[in-house]
Order: sequence, then structure tokens, then C-alpha cells
Amino acid sequence: MNKATARAHPNIALIKYWGKRDQALFLPATSSFSMTLDGLSATTTVEFSERFSADQVELDGRPIEGKALLRFQMLFDRVRALSGVDCPVRVASTNDFPTAAGLASSAAGGAALAAATSWAAGLDLGAHDLSRLSRQFSGSACRSVEGGFCEWRRGERPDGQDSFAVQVAPPAHWPSLRMVVAVCSGAEKPLSSRAAMQHSVETSPFFAAWVDQVPRDLALAKEALLRRDLGALGPIVETNACRIHAVALGAHPPTFYMRPLTIEVIDAVQSLRRDEGVGAWFTLDAGPNPVVLCEEKDAPRVAARLRRIEGVERLVTAGPGEGVCRLDEHLF
Ligand code: PMV
Repeated sequence: MNKATARAHPNIALIKYWGKRDQALFLPATSSFSMTLDGLSATTTVEFSERFSADQVELDGRPIEGKALLRFQMLFDRVRALSGVDCPVRVASTNDFPTAAGLASSAAGGAALAAATSWAAGLDLGAHDLSRLSRQFSGSACRSVEGGFCEWRRGERPDGQDSFAVQVAPPAHWPSLRMVVAVCSGAEKPLSSRAAMQHSVETSPFFAAWVDQVPRDLALAKEALLRRDLGALGPIVETNACRIHAVALGAHPPTFYMRPLTIEVIDAVQSLRRDEGVGAWFTLDAGPNPVVLCEEKDAPRVAARLRRIEGVERLVTAGPGEGVCRLDEHLF
């Protein structure tokens, strides 16, 4: 049976990916570094069959059509070429967290899609090959193939063969590290990260400075993570997140992702740290929802503080999670 189901978890970048050097191949301008989250997940079932008249994709019950479908078909075509399986495909995927709201839903979905598609076609790809395949659906997805803490190495080759994520440390390296996600708005973001980062590449005078800075941020973050030193990791994570927003704000016209509530959450995190000595630092993707990095023992206090802010819709606390896995139960 040419059918398989995969589950993958989102990852949140500690050091962000922002901007490509090759758009067609999804090659990033810089390396990036992330934590895969437990708890939240995307589940995807893929079936290849002659019974289907055309490729069909359904995300959380909604059919994907037109240009959005083409993006999926590029991945299907790659897998068809690799496997020799040459028939239409049906895909259903569900997310247990908001899509396209800066919670890296495309990362979990992309990794689950790449894995399930390759398995349904009978391929048995290793983690690095799966990471390369996921990368070409959504860059950040390549960091959700493996669990724990992963570095997406930008690579040097023009064909992208050396651009994939490698696991720097497994979840067990730092099981007490937590990310508290403050969902300020589950609404779709105004501009996809893909479009916004390209807009930054083309129009932000700060982009060159970003490319120059990231290797230093990444080296510091990786060292701090390997030492399990939150007091060193937190500040560099917070600064690096602010730097992508500075690059995006420097674009013309500017790209804003923060909402008033985002700033309220950030203020609360900084005040917890300054006034109460709680080791908590925020990061922020291309969306309005801050994510707070802290130790397990402090997570309830962080969550209690953020819960008091009117408008915060939901708080999700996650630790380091595993990579993509295969499920026996299918969605259809
Ligand atoms: O891979 P994309 O297109 O979802 O872009 C991800 C961009 C950020 O989430 C803002 C940063 C990152 O490294 O995940």
C-alpha cells in the first residue's frame, strides 16, 4: 500500500533564519539553530494511487488550490522522480496549533509532509536527505526532522547538497529547558515569512549587517546550549530575535509583526527578569506571538504572569521534543 502517516513537531529558532541566497533551491543566507518542541504537532497522511484523478491536499479540512497547491506539487514531483512512483497523490494534514501565526506551523507540517510522502512512495531516506527534502518545502521544516537542538547549516555548494539540518544535541541534553508560547493572535499573518524575508533581502539596508552578525550569534548560542548555560543563551536569543525584526522594519515598505499585545508580553518578560530575578528571555518569529525561554521550575511563574495580560488567548509550555516519527493510524 502506497500510504504512510508521519507526525512532526514545530521548532522555534534560537538563532533565526531570515533571507535566502537562492530562492529556487531554498538556500539560506545564514545558518540557523533551533529547538524542536514536544506537545504541539502536525500529522500528515499521504497516499499515492491511480484511483485519484489529480493531486489533492487538505489542511485541517480545507482544500488547498491554485498557487498554494503548486508548492506541494513541487515536493511530490521530487519524490516521484526519486522513487519512480508515478501516480496522483492525496494528502490530509492536521495541526494542533494555529497555522501561519508565527508558530512555525510550516516547519512541523513540512517535515511531516516530506517524511510521509517519501515513505508512501517506498523511499527510505536518512535524516539528512529528509532534511534536504523538507527544506525545499519550507526552509525551517528542515530543522524539524530531528529532535532536540538542530543547526541548519547554510552550506556552500550552489546545488544545495550541503544545506540541511544536523542535530547538535538530543532532547535529553537539556530536558528541563522550556518554551512558553504566548498566543496573542491565532489570525493569519499579513505577509508570509517567505515573502517578507525576500522583501528584506531586496530592500532592507540592514540585511548585509544581519548576514555578517549571525555566525557570531550562532557560535555563542551553540556554546551556551552545550554548556546548558541559560544565563548566556537567553540574552543572545533575545537579541537575535530583535535583530530579525530590525531587518524587517528596515525594509521598504517596512514589515511589522508585533501587535500591541506582543509588546505587553515582552515588557512582562523583561520585568519578570529585572524585578523578580526570573531567568526568562523572549524570542519572536514572523508573527505576533512571543515565545519565552526559561527553566521548567520557572515556567509556571512565567505562564501565571502572562495569563494576567488581557488578550493573551492561550499559553502553551513545551520542552525539547523528538524528531519526525511514523504512525500506523492514518487520517483517511
Ligand atoms: O521557513 P519559513 O518560511 O517558515 O521561515 C521561517 C522564518 C522564521 O520563523 C521567522 C525564523 C526561523 O528560523 O524559523
